[in-house]
Amino acid sequence: MNRNIIVLDTTLRDGEQVPGAKLNVRQKVEFAQQLKRLNVDIIEAGFPASSAGDFQAVQEIVRTVGDAVSVTALARAVKSDIDAVYESIKLANDPFIHIVLGTSNIHVEKKFSRSKEAVMQMGVDAVKYARALLPHVQYSTEDASRSEFEYLWQTIEAVVKAGATMINVPDTVGYAVPEEFGELIRKINDRLKNLNPDVILSVHCHNDLGLATANTISAIKNGADKVECTINGLGERAGNTSLEEVVMALKVRENYFGCSTNVKTTEILRTSKLLTHLTGLDVQVNKAITGENAFAHSSGIHQDGLLKDKQVYEIMSPEEIGAESMELILTARSGRHAFKNAVEKMGFEAGDPEDFERLFAKFLELADAKKEVYDHDVFYLVTQHRKLE
Ligand code: KIV
Ligand code: ZN
Repeated sequence: MNRNIIVLDTTLRDGEQVPGAKLNVRQKVEFAQQLKRLNVDIIEAGFPASSAGDFQAVQEIVRTVGDAVSVTALARAVKSDIDAVYESIKLANDPFIHIVLGTSNIHVEKKFSRSKEAVMQMGVDAVKYARALLPHVQYSTEDASRSEFEYLWQTIEAVVKAGATMINVPDTVGYAVPEEFGELIRKINDRLKNLNPDVILSVHCHNDLGLATANTISAIKNGADKVECTINGLGERAGNTSLEEVVMALKVRENYFGCSTNVKTTEILRTSKLLTHLTGLDVQVNKAITGENAFAHSSGIHQDGLLKDKQVYEIMSPEEIGAESMELILTARSGRHAFKNAVEKMGFEAGDPEDFERLFAKFLELADAKKEVYDHDVFYLVTQHRKLE
């Protein structure tokens, strides 16, 4: 039987904090609605203690999609952060608090200037405090891949005993390599199963060496039940694990991994494009799965093979990620139905009928002036109309 891998999307927390990717509250809510359509299991909606705007965005996301998707948000191991997370997510159906605290020597010594025991105690106290508020708490051992294993394990053991229900193992600086990271996860998983088999083991990788997807996949192979990813791999420095790469690797190689996810893969391209439009950050053309050339074949030999049978050079079809006729070119004669379809194809809600009529009137004005209306024009119309920018 297939093992189901839980997918947490952290585009709105770890992804959005990169330079140039800042989104306003309404943009975040639009994107969260698309994440709901993509059917991710969990949305990490932000870091509410960081600013009033972030707090408000998390609350709005909970209000909009929190009945259908589990929502979490990040806290450092301090009461005020945990309170901010709790206050912003408490109305979601299945909320949990995510606490982060470093376990590597460099974090303990340089960031906290405290003893290892004192830092571990901070983590234990934070988990106990959070568990008094909600039944689920995730604990992230920041910089786990550069931590001494025995201290890392002692921390995990202590926070699980204090009530953590999920342990997240981050490769914070993208330092790990796949075999080594897989081995780390296997060791933690073996011990965790003895300590408390109900605790969920999760991983969170960064892409500094271009290994985030490989490390995540290796962790899954070695027992991780949950993965943290972002759309287009957006994130600090070289980014986070790309959601679409992990999900499609598990799907395409299902017989090899024996794992699946709940992600609706036909929503992948739409989600990727919506993020590109909202942030203005392009996807590299040869990026796996969502790059413009990911399904383009240019060599004569390949084209000839494809014409004989697509499987000769295609391991997955563009339709599986929702690529069929993505771009419709609209004109003033396209009509309401085609325009509504174009708005929804971009990952936006069509809105209530009155609001849609106003938007449609603006579309007609533009179509008369421009003759041909492309995806980027539709995006401009919706964002201007809804004041998303
Ligand atoms: O990279 C990291 O360690 C993080 C944690 C908060 C999980 O983003
Ligand atoms: Zn991170």
